Amino acid sequence: MKIAVLPGDGIGKEVTSQGVKVLRAVLGDAHALELHEAPIGGAGFDAAGDSLPPATLELARQSDAILHGASGVAEDEKRLPQQAAGFALLRLRKALNLFANLRPAFMFPELIGSSTLKREVVDGLDLLILRELNGDVYYGEPRGIDASSGFNTMRYTEPEVERIGRVAFQLARQRRKKVCSVDKANVLETSALWRQVMIRVGRDYPDVELSHMLVDAAAMMLVRNPKQFDVMVTGNIFGDILSDEAGMLTGSIGMLPSASLGDDKKGLYEPVHGSAPDIAGKDIANPLASILSVAMMLRYSFDLEEHALRIERAVREVLRKGLRTADIVEPGTRRVGTEEMGEAVAVAISQV
Ligand code: IPM
Ligand code: MG
Repeated sequence: MKIAVLPGDGIGKEVTSQGVKVLRAVLGDAHALELHEAPIGGAGFDAAGDSLPPATLELARQSDAILHGASGVAEDEKRLPQQAAGFALLRLRKALNLFANLRPAFMFPELIGSSTLKREVVDGLDLLILRELNGDVYYGEPRGIDASSGFNTMRYTEPEVERIGRVAFQLARQRRKKVCSVDKANVLETSALWRQVMIRVGRDYPDVELSHMLVDAAAMMLVRNPKQFDVMVTGNIFGDILSDEAGMLTGSIGMLPSASLGDDKKGLYEPVHGSAPDIAGKDIANPLASILSVAMMLRYSFDLEEHALRIERAVREVLRKGLRTADIVEPGTRRVGTEEMGEAVAVAISQV
């Protein structure tokens, strides 16, 4: 198992080392684990004058999976997007053709009190946002008008929508068999194409229920009645926005893991949150999103479902014991730091 570890910047470094700790704990000596660390983001600038140094990209290409922390530094705010440290991640996703971004929002019952929403709204919440990760209004090559449909496909081409649509239906088949496709088909040409293709692809999956929702309504429904959703499939920018919103339903964005997949088993795994320079280096960040990303890595890149479940059960166990980082602390629970939380999960691995 060759894994590229790219901690990046800010809290990315702290949370990734806890993810690695738990990875080692769950695998023990049973698997040949090869971990290679490389700089990305601001750390890439410092080490090699490039946010995605060629050696880092090469390592990622040659690995079975990538564990990313977070890329982005405070100075990014004064830079053009392509020159920002955080842009490394977009380059990496594109270079490896990782087009399917899975962002599960799952309510751990122990954290219901940390959600800003009422208990009955989030109790039992279990949804998956599937975000297309390479197209859309994000930086990319200009495209133009598609000859066959006449649509302005500056943002999405038909094959791109089709392949993400297929992933959505396949994922839904393993869950509650519902896909909600989110678009803005009433104003965007690219969304009209999106919707047409989703309807066509959906015919191949008659056992899965397909619905459509405009993105503004979807944003509203996520806070009003999020339990109606099973798999929500959407484009790059809407998925970016809606996944932060969905993350907060579960108590904290610090709980949200993600997987970015392509056509094969290789994947990039990372917390949904960013590098949070304001709280970096203080041992207060929540490492659980990184730890849960490691579980996704074992599930999707290595087919180690049992090991993935063990990590998820261990996380649940430490929450049940009342350990909380600052973002999810409540009266009656015990506040711990990044390091102690990671250690507790690693220890719990042998108890679940
Ligand atoms: C995410 C992040 C990134 C994105 C940024 C850091 C470029 O917000 O992964 O959700 O917009 O995709
Ligand atoms: Mg985001």
